[in-house]
Amino acid sequence: MSKELILKKERIEVRSRVAQTYSSSIATDVYRGLTASQKYIPSKYFYDDRGSRLFDEICYLPEYYPTRTEMSILDSVASEIMAPFGEGDIVELGSGANRKIRVLLDAVGPERISSFRYVPVDVSEAALIASSKELLELYPDLEVLGIIADFTVHLKDLPSDRPRMIIFLGSTIGNFHERERKKFLSLVAETMTPDDRFLIGFDMIKQKKTLEAAYNDSQGLTSAFNKNVLHVLNRELKADFNPTEFKHVAFFNEEMERVEMHLQAKEDMEIRVKDLDLTIELEKDETIHTEICAKFSREGIKRMAADLGLEIRRWFFDEKAWFSLAELVLKD
Ligand code: SAH
Ligand code: AVI
Repeated sequence: MSKELILKKERIEVRSRVAQTYSSSIATDVYRGLTASQKYIPSKYFYDDRGSRLFDEICYLPEYYPTRTEMSILDSVASEIMAPFGEGDIVELGSGANRKIRVLLDAVGPERISSFRYVPVDVSEAALIASSKELLELYPDLEVLGIIADFTVHLKDLPSDRPRMIIFLGSTIGNFHERERKKFLSLVAETMTPDDRFLIGFDMIKQKKTLEAAYNDSQGLTSAFNKNVLHVLNRELKADFNPTEFKHVAFFNEEMERVEMHLQAKEDMEIRVKDLDLTIELEKDETIHTEICAKFSREGIKRMAADLGLEIRRWFFDEKAWFSLAELVLKD
């Protein structure tokens, strides 16, 4: 597959790795998910233009503590994180609105900024282009190479010719199922050189009440974000879901240490997905599982790093230890 050039101007280039594969992968993934005994839709399909905007609004909700907590850690340790990283690529996986990177770039300061290239990687083309352009205006000496890609598929295609700081924030790592998480992290580890570092944001296990409030906000934005995936399927696969016939359900599954989001059918219904030539039946109260948001413990993170052959070089927490940022490097 050749890299598709989407945009090239002074200081910015955007390439897509998914343009030719998106329609076949959504078809395969959704067919598999809707014909499984526990129906599911992979959460990466939340993020069309509207989904990305809804997520961005979620980040400012009073109940959604992860964004502001991770930001507070970044604010206090950004200089410490960036000090030993002299030059190279800052590769951000799942960059979204690219807000957090600004804290790291501000810590670098205008004199050093031209030593870095920012490489945002996201499946959401709209979010990636809009936020990259914003960044160029804020940082007149910054170079940006945007890559529209599925980071579970296209990791090997990311630039690796300079020292890299790979960053994966927001606890997006929690949106993988355990086996996929291990596979993904070991692929990242395989691409790392001794000059690379990998900064991951982890949402930590905490009180059920706090966790459940974060995914059941009083303004209904998380519900709209969850149901948006049905709009995506209606548009991309000519499905006939009526999102208002579904209830947003989110709860902390203590045994699995994860918040689960589901869409629950309010009545018995039949759904036609024209492009898949598929008709499915849902019984009243049956759910479609749309997202897992795993929550982490210190022991779990340590074990995970050790299994990957990575070492936690630095580890930062907020004062309540609700969130943490771990910097991983290859073990000597
Ligand atoms: N890092 C940001 C955004 C998190 S939202 C923050 O911390 O706030 C998750 C982001 O990951 C979204 O922008 C979404 O489009 C992107 N994403 C989700 N699954 C992806 C995948 N498989 N490949 C690439 N990007 C993905
Ligand atoms: C992107 N990701 C880390 C968010 C989370 O908290 O798992 C997505 C989200 N889902 C509902 N609210 C936010």
